This record gives sequence, C-alpha cells and structure tokens, in this order.
Amino acid sequence: MTPSDVLKTLPAAIRWQDDKLTLLDQTRLPHEIVFEVQETPEQVWQSILELKVRGAPAIGVAAAYGLCVAMQPFIGAGVGDFVDALADQAAYLNSSRPTAVNLGWALRRMQRVAGEEDFDNSQSLYERLVAEAQAIHQEDIALCEGMGRHGESLIKPGMGVLTHCNAGALATTGLGTATAPMYLAHGNGVPFKVFADETRPLLQGARLTAWELAEAGIDVTLITDNMAAHMMATGQIDLVITGTDRVAANGDVANKIGTLGVAVLANYFKIPFYVACPASTIDFEAMDGSQIPIEEREAKEVSHFSTAQVALDNTQIRNPAFDITPNKLVSGLITEQGIVRAPYLENLQKQYQS
Ligand code: MRU
Repeated sequence: MTPSDVLKTLPAAIRWQDDKLTLLDQTRLPHEIVFEVQETPEQVWQSILELKVRGAPAIGVAAAYGLCVAMQPFIGAGVGDFVDALADQAAYLNSSRPTAVNLGWALRRMQRVAGEEDFDNSQSLYERLVAEAQAIHQEDIALCEGMGRHGESLIKPGMGVLTHCNAGALATTGLGTATAPMYLAHGNGVPFKVFADETRPLLQGARLTAWELAEAGIDVTLITDNMAAHMMATGQIDLVITGTDRVAANGDVANKIGTLGVAVLANYFKIPFYVACPASTIDFEAMDGSQIPIEEREAKEVSHFSTAQVALDNTQIRNPAFDITPNKLVSGLITEQGIVRAPYLENLQKQYQS
C-alpha cells in the first residue's frame, strides 16, 4: 500500500476548493461521516474548540484556511485596512485552543505574507494568503511522509506498538505523525500489531485511531487507558509511538493527557518511547515544558461518558487536556529530517538552525 493508497481509505479531514473550507466533523466519527462547510471565522473557531478538526498539524492547516475565510468579507477594502483586519482575525482564531503550537505557527506565517511585498490591492493579497495556506497544507503532507520514512525502521516484524490518542491521518492532512511509520511499514509488508489506547475523556483512540488504522488494513486492537501497564508487563508492547502538540526547545513533549503515564510505564518496562514531531510542532521559544500552556476543558467531558452522565452534578472535576512528558523519558523524536536524540536542546538546534 503506497502513501496515496492509504489516504484513499479515509475521508480528508480538511478540503479547500473554490475558496471554500470544508472540514470533516471528527466528533461524529466513526459512526457518521459528515462534512461541514465553514462559512465564518466564528464557525472555524468553534470547530477547532469542539474538536471537529483536531490534532496539532490539522489545526494549523485549518486555521490557515480559516484565516482566508475570515478575510473574504474584507476583499475590496484598502490594503492597509485589510492588513489590520488580518491581524485581528488571526488573533481571534489563535484564541480557540492554547496547546498545539501549530495554530499560532500557521497564523504567524500567514500574517508574514502581508509584509513580504507591496500589494496593489486586497484581492491580490487575499490570493497570496490562499497560496500560503495551500503551501502549509502541501508541506504538512510532505512532513508526514518524512516522519514515516525515518520512523519506519523502528517497527520490526512481530512487534506490538502502542499509541495514545490520535496522531493519525485524521490529525493531519497526510499520513499522520505517529501513524506515518506504521502506514509505511505496513505498506512494505512488515507484520506488526498496534494497540490503541482509547484516550479518555474524548476517546480519540477508540473513535479515530482504531477506525483509521483498521480502514487501512493494519492489525489494531483497542485497549482502555488503564490496560497499558498490563499489556507492557505481559510483554505485548515492544515500542510506543505518540504524536505531540508542542515540543519545547529542550525536548519536553506536550501531548494528549495520559501520554506522561504511558511514558513513565515505558521507562519502567524498558520499552522505547518515541514521539513523532514535525518541524511545525517545535516551539523554540518555550525553553522547557513548564512554558507550554495546558488547555483545561469543560467538566462535562469528564462527568459524562459520551452523552451519558456518570458523575453527580456537584462533583468537583478537573479536565486538563494535555500533559508534559519530560525529555528524559523520550527515546527519540521522529522528525521529517531524521530521529533526534538527547541532548535535545543541542541536537534540535543543530537540526533546525537555519
Ligand atoms: O485534543 P486533540 O484531539 O486535538 O489532541 C491531539 C493529540 O494530542 C495528538 O496526539 C497531537 O495533536 C499530535 S497529532 C499528529
């Protein structure tokens, strides 16, 4: 199975056609495949907040196109007014979710376009913005393939590979980040099993990862999050690969809540723990994980299991959506340029100096 065959097995998370942004509503997967055209910046903001589009790279691409949607009513305004509105709309979209650095990264990149040349009118600046969003989209596809190529050899015949949350094709516009090595290894005939943590509270593992890997013909088994220790203790897991929402300059990793627990377990059982991390997800301004903002989401996601209420109304609840895995628990970062290992501060800087 080639990368493009893999992508044919799944509906695209994000589409841009005829100046319209269409998102696959991931909250309804795997039972319903529903696409939603995004008409306004408010709708894009809400789609990001509600996780209709989710996963760090996909959030970045959706925000870039979302900014184009937001700027459509300003076509025809003077260039100066258009640029002012661009800053306002980018700041607004950037406020939808705090942890995935791809969101701010993509929006800053879009805004830089305005200062690159003198635009005669707002129509030509708008067209340049669309081209930049399309470039971010195409680059994301290439980044995924790059991580796949460099991570593929970690997966040996007969291995059990654990993953957490969904760092798959649905979380990107390509082969996914953590899943890219899996798709390429599978395509090359390597037999292995994937164990997908269900990922409470929003069940991205159960609803998305188990579904997308099965669609591509990969042998995938769903487990609840509290089964990971048992699976490791009984020798069923040989490798862990997760994605990330933001990697600090020192290699500390923010990812879906529960990732830290998996990393601690992997360390205890001496199982390699790798994180797939495209260039767009590294934040050189955050020196370590303590500088990464952690999203706190609404209590209802914890008090309810899907639509069924499981906790009493007055129960005190916390719902941090991400946690920080310290760099010393990370065996390596699978990037599009190769696998980066400790010391991360030095080696990440060396790799991305330019
Ligand atoms: O809350 P989500 O579903 O957006 O969280 C997604 C994750 O934590 C992914 O592991 C991460 O964004 C990497 S996606 C390639």
